[in-house]
Amino acid sequence: ELGRFEHYMQKEIHEQPESLRMTLSGRVDSRTANITLGGLTNFERQLSHFKRVLLFGCGSAWHAGLIGEYLIEELAELPTEVQYSSELRYRNPLIEEGTLAIAISQSGETADTLAALHEVRTRGATVLGIVNNVGSTIARETDAGVYLHVGPEIGVASTKAFLGQVTVLSMLAVYLGRRKHLSRDTISTFLSELERIPEAIEQTLLLESQMREIAYKFSGRQNWLYLGRGINYPTALEGALKLKEVSYIHAEGLPAAEMKHGPIAMIDEGMPVVVIATRDVTYQKILSNMEEVRSRGGEVIAIVNQPDAQIERLAKNVVVVPRTQPMLSPLVASVPLQLLAYHAALSRGLDVDKPRNLAKSVTVE
Ligand code: F6R
Repeated sequence: ELGRFEHYMQKEIHEQPESLRMTLSGRVDSRTANITLGGLTNFERQLSHFKRVLLFGCGSAWHAGLIGEYLIEELAELPTEVQYSSELRYRNPLIEEGTLAIAISQSGETADTLAALHEVRTRGATVLGIVNNVGSTIARETDAGVYLHVGPEIGVASTKAFLGQVTVLSMLAVYLGRRKHLSRDTISTFLSELERIPEAIEQTLLLESQMREIAYKFSGRQNWLYLGRGINYPTALEGALKLKEVSYIHAEGLPAAEMKHGPIAMIDEGMPVVVIATRDVTYQKILSNMEEVRSRGGEVIAIVNQPDAQIERLAKNVVVVPRTQPMLSPLVASVPLQLLAYHAALSRGLDVDKPRNLAKSVTVE
């Protein structure tokens, strides 16, 4: 079943172009600027009445939700909030009228997310699901939803399901925005960029030997930082989580500018600092953040999509991924971080598919 791969995690990372083609298949058409989401057909009219969105999930699904927040605010212009399922449940979630709640889950069986779903529904929210596992409990209990269609994910660390969740959220953001301010041209351009993502990921996968080298160089260091801004701040969180779960190295993801409000004190000679610096409005700012790291002896591993002289000066390790629409860059920038975590775990002799203390789905609260 593993074919040419050694582990499910590696196989699933490499399957991502094909998986996302399945996620997009029959749903996105850039020529006609159309999005068809079969699971929402009966909901179409109702959807235009929602005034705010509440996304919830755990772990990687929560990170996908954070990326979804940027997408929905930008493309659908709806106020959006993201909650950990486990926290949502025990606060006093104020579900105003017109709230669209969205549960995000690969397995569809995560107990915390199921409990949060019950809580928000009791309080009157309409609940959609963004789920991979067809017919799972969360899929059955939501009012409607969109499946990921990425195929079964067996490796404990989520890879293709995470990218599937982000892909569905980007389609959903356009879907919610299309009857509002978004022009046909804007939609068509965005969708054609989305259609090109699987190919961009194919090219990104060619970076595996570089990521392996970087992993072996730094996997002896027990503390890492991951920095990103804007829509790639959650990418940094996800990169750090991948490293923690499979290699047991301590890593912290941060919005890059927050570093100077405390965590910068941790930076010492040789500390690996992964910085996502793909081009968007924050590019110049993130270069200054890199400078702050470098001047304290940190080792910058920069993920970029348009290298320049400044990057070469600031980072000894430069990883070049293909350019995409900035809002879709997490789909590409996440891939080298998955490969980095995978090879860091191997270099430490660990079982990446069965990390200690973890199970594929967490069915206890
Ligand atoms: C991370 C990971 C977990 C899951 C989380 C939610 O790699 O696998 O953080 O993302 O337990 O699981 P689902 O999506 O099944 O609800």
